[in-house]
Amino acid sequence: MTYPERVRIVEVGPRDGLQNEPFTVPTGAKVALIEALADAGLTNIEAGSFVSPRWVPQMADTAAVLARLHPRPGVGFPVLVPNLQGLERALACGVREVAIFAAASESFSRRNINCSVAESLGRFSPVVETAQAAGLRVRGYVSCVLGCPYEGEVPAEAVARVAETLLAMGCYEISLGDTIGTGTPLTARRLVERVARVVPLERIALHCHDTYGQALANILACLDLGVSVIDSAVAGLGGCPYAPGATGNVATEDVVYMLRGMGIETGIDLEALVDAGLSITRHLNREPASKVARAILSRRPASP
Ligand code: HMG
Ligand code: MG
Repeated sequence: MTYPERVRIVEVGPRDGLQNEPFTVPTGAKVALIEALADAGLTNIEAGSFVSPRWVPQMADTAAVLARLHPRPGVGFPVLVPNLQGLERALACGVREVAIFAAASESFSRRNINCSVAESLGRFSPVVETAQAAGLRVRGYVSCVLGCPYEGEVPAEAVARVAETLLAMGCYEISLGDTIGTGTPLTARRLVERVARVVPLERIALHCHDTYGQALANILACLDLGVSVIDSAVAGLGGCPYAPGATGNVATEDVVYMLRGMGIETGIDLEALVDAGLSITRHLNREPASKVARAILSRRPASP
């Protein structure tokens, strides 16, 4: 088996994680989390989203979060935008990268962004065009790639079609979202093989929610195909308000630990990452969902 020498981790906790909390996390705590993640060595940290504040009030302060972040060379703070209005808000904050998000399932598309898949792709096209004209990089998500909370099974063909369209629009990378975490290793691998017929492997990222505890296994099953970009959330934060039952993303600590054990470089300091997770989970008044974080914390001397 040949595994990549290096994997780039896209940290989605401050966005995918905190969008799903029942209460809005205060701006200061979000900023502290993002700064701690950057201190731990993460170079791609989703800082929030410019979606409708009526749909996702938890992300309404994204402009304030961005305004308080210290710019760091080599570190990007992308944000999600669902339409031109969101892009304009992002541009006003001086962001350098945005992400658009489509789905492979009609029902999820309607619930999440209130339009069909085709309508959403039509809406995203001018978003990408305008973003690129302003010099921004655009990442594309496809949700529900291994199952939909409303429709069940999702054909790989549908995923490949949307992924190909987002690539043709100009997205530099396509993140395949197992939104409800129902995928298993062979379904994940077969899906990546199918999508790789239309999207080069080096442009495919995996975005696994860990609802059924399959995320690490699914990632491992795709690494030797050549996938080298993994989305994850510190402390296993995450979910989507429009995907009932979907729990957190795979924990960044767990991914980093596994990759480190395999000799794959991530550039991330695991102890500092655990501290970043601890600061936000203390704020949320719960334990990190990451098993690696729990194991590391249990071996630390108790603080006086
Ligand atoms: P809509 O209601 O159809 O929008 O929502 P509209 O265009 O008809 O506008 C209605 C109102 O919203 C108007 O205000 C607009 O100004 C306002 P009013 O005139 O009524 O006062 N509006 C906005 N305000 C601020 N920023 C905007 C914006 N757009 C419209 N950008 C819309 C359509 C797409 C806006 C809505 O459905 C929405 O915001 N959805 C976002 C849902 C979301 O954020 N979901 C979570 C992220 S996706 C995810 O988590 C999956 C992922 O992690 C991958 C995976 O796991 O699979 C990425
Ligand atoms: Mg997600």
